[in-house]
Amino acid sequence: MMKPDLSTEIAGIKLRNPVMLASGTAGYGEDISKYCDLNRIGAIIVKGIALKASHGNPPPRICETPAGMLNAIGLPNVGVKSFIDERVPFLRQFDTKVIVNIFGSTVDEYGEVAGALNGVAGVHGLEANISCPNVKEGGIAFGTDLDTTRRVVSRIRKSTTLPLIIKLSPNVTDITSFAKACEDEGADAVSLINTLIGMSIDTATWRPRLANITGGLSGPAIRPVAVRMVWQVCNTVKIPVIGMGGITDSRDALEFLLAGASAIAVGTANFLNPSTAIEIADGLSLYMEERNISRLNHLIGKVKIPGRQL
Ligand SMILES: Cc1cc2nc3c(=O)[nH]c(=O)nc-3n(C[C@H](O)[C@H](O)[C@H](O)COP(=O)(O)O)c2cc1C
Repeated sequence: MMKPDLSTEIAGIKLRNPVMLASGTAGYGEDISKYCDLNRIGAIIVKGIALKASHGNPPPRICETPAGMLNAIGLPNVGVKSFIDERVPFLRQFDTKVIVNIFGSTVDEYGEVAGALNGVAGVHGLEANISCPNVKEGGIAFGTDLDTTRRVVSRIRKSTTLPLIIKLSPNVTDITSFAKACEDEGADAVSLINTLIGMSIDTATWRPRLANITGGLSGPAIRPVAVRMVWQVCNTVKIPVIGMGGITDSRDALEFLLAGASAIAVGTANFLNPSTAIEIADGLSLYMEERNISRLNHLIGKVKIPGRQL
C-alpha cells in the first residue's frame, strides 16, 4: 500500500498530519525544535501571548502527581510586540503551521492581541485561551461563564480574519454548551481540554505544594475525561475539534481521532520525551498502513457505539 495520507484540516488550516504541540509545553519552539523536527508535525501552538509581558505566578509552580502534573505557571509571556519582532522570525524558518495562543485580562484586550497578530507573516491561526485555571482575569473566569464566552469570541472574531480556535475549559458542568456558544459567535474550531483544577498538600509541612494553592492537572490522569468531552462536543457542533489531554503515544491519539477530533495536541508528554509528537505521527502512519486505511478521514469520528449506525 502507498504511504497513508495523514493530512487534515482545522479551521481552514491545512496540516500535513494531525499532530500538534499543545500551548505552554513547547514555548515558542526554540528549545523543542532541537529534539522534535517541527517540519514533521502538523502545527505548533505557541505559549500564551498577551498584550503586555508578564512573569507569571511565584514558585513553586509545578509538582508531580501519580499520573500527570499540577501546574500554576500563570501565563508568563513576552508580550505580543516582542513576540512578533523576536519570536515569529524563528518560527517562520520551518515548514509547519504556527498557531498563536492568546489571552487578555479584559474582553477588549483579547481583541487587541488578536488584532495585533492579524496579517503577520508566519502566523496561520489563533487559539484563544479562555480556560487557564491559574489566572484570575483572562483565564477561567471567561471560559466558565456562557455570556462572557460569547462576548469574548465575538470580540476576537471582529478583530481578525485569521482562523479562530477557542480553547475550552473542562471545569464546567456542560462543555457542549460552551462549544456551541463558540460556534454561534463565529469560531472556526474549538480545542479541548485545558487542565482540570487540582490541589496537592505536602504532608511533611502541611502546606499546599503550589504557591498558588491550586493548579491545573494535566497528563494521562485526565485522558478519559478529555476523550469523553471531545466525543460529546463532536456530537454537538459542526466546526472541527482539536483534542488534547494526556496523549503520550499514537494509541492515545487514536482514541481522540476515533472520538471525532480532526487533530490532536501533545502537552505534558513533551516534558518527558520532546520527540513524542514525531513518534505519534509515525505511529499513526504505521497503524493505518497495517490496517489498509488510506486516509486519516476514514478514522475521524469512527468510534463504534453499540446500537448506533456509523
Ligand atoms: C506547564 C503547562 C503550561 C501550559 N500553558 C498553557 C498556555 O499558555 N495556554 C493554554 O491554552 N494552555 C496551556 N496549557 C495547557 C495545555 O496546552 C493542555 O491543554 C493541557 O496540559 C492538557 O494536555 P496534556 O495532558 O497533554 O498536557 C499548559 C499546560 C502545562 C502543563
